[in-house]
Amino acid sequence: MLKVGVIGMRGIGNQHADCYVSSEHAELVAVCDLVQERADDAAARLGVKPYYDMHDMLDSEGLDIVDVSTGGVENGSDHYAPTIAALDAGRHVLCEKPISNDIGEAREMVARARETGFCFGVNLNHRFCPPAFKAKDWVEEGRLGEVNFINMALWIGNPKDDEFFHLRALHPHSIDVMRYFCGSIEYVQAFLKRSEGRTCWSNASINMKFANGIIGHLTGSYDMTTRHPMERCEVAGTKGRFVLDNVYEDLTLWLHDSDEVTSVHNSIFGGLAGFGDTFRMRIHRFCEQVAEGADPEAIEASGADALQAQEVIEAAIKSHQIGEVIKLEV
Ligand SMILES: NC(=O)c1ccc[n+]([C@@H]2O[C@H](COP(=O)([O-])OP(=O)(O)OC[C@H]3O[C@@H](n4cnc5c(N)ncnc54)[C@H](O)[C@@H]3O)[C@@H](O)[C@H]2O)c1
Repeated sequence: MLKVGVIGMRGIGNQHADCYVSSEHAELVAVCDLVQERADDAAARLGVKPYYDMHDMLDSEGLDIVDVSTGGVENGSDHYAPTIAALDAGRHVLCEKPISNDIGEAREMVARARETGFCFGVNLNHRFCPPAFKAKDWVEEGRLGEVNFINMALWIGNPKDDEFFHLRALHPHSIDVMRYFCGSIEYVQAFLKRSEGRTCWSNASINMKFANGIIGHLTGSYDMTTRHPMERCEVAGTKGRFVLDNVYEDLTLWLHDSDEVTSVHNSIFGGLAGFGDTFRMRIHRFCEQVAEGADPEAIEASGADALQAQEVIEAAIKSHQIGEVIKLEV
């Protein structure tokens, strides 16, 4: 069993901890938070040892996996220090998104994972659900024919108001889903709009061109609500088109030469019980890959994938600032 310690014990850290408890490959042994009460409450609930300093936990517990569920500025500034410390201590790391809100730190984190040779995954959980796996199979089996375009939308409500918070904190998810289906993104062009009274650029319209020639578009917003569907992904090719609605709820395939429609609906018996189940599936997969001794380069939704999503976000910000199309290294 892989021994796991979780750093950052608010809502998300506790949710991650529950996922390790239910993993057949993992044993949760410790939790850590700078705020003593948060560590103590989580430790009492989970029946594990509390720590208030990550270095004490790393020195004492013989961990295999360190889970970084901290937040910080734009939900990502507190990921760097624990990730680097855990990799340097010889642990595999699963980190929350964004990998970091600072692109320089994000690059360093991925480089350090490569240098140390440990697995580094990020909780890009939206693609860890059965309908996304099925849609990916359709793409790879050629059921869509030659893929031509992708239209993605991700919109929720979030009143936090840092200037680029919406892009850096939310869109690691949408861009990761786009990369999952269509590959590396090479060109980015963005228009941003802030709604009245906001400092945050809370709405985004982003054009992309993938290295393989596929063209794509992302609509994003922090001015909406999770009470309505929050995500929609449409991929179309020369033979067919699918729409994956609301992360995992409904998947529909239209083939150009047929009047019949394939519809896959999340079942109330055996389907995902809620959005939290995408966390469970993602974290269980990371534990499974580490337990199997996977090559760190083969980790699904890796630090490198998260870094590429963040590079696209920084390119979108630059495009908005200088009014040009930005080319990325692929
Ligand atoms: N994948 C998803 O769908 C999803 C959804 C929501 C949030 N998130 C991400 O989850 C992360 C955590 O979110 P949250 O709302 O629980 O954050 P939060 O800011 O409420 O809590 C973070 C906790 O980490 C602790 N912490 C920070 N640095 C620490 C350190 N060095 N050592 C020990 N403890 C430390 C803080 O004291 C705090 O208790 C964020 O990065 C956010 O982007 C992901």
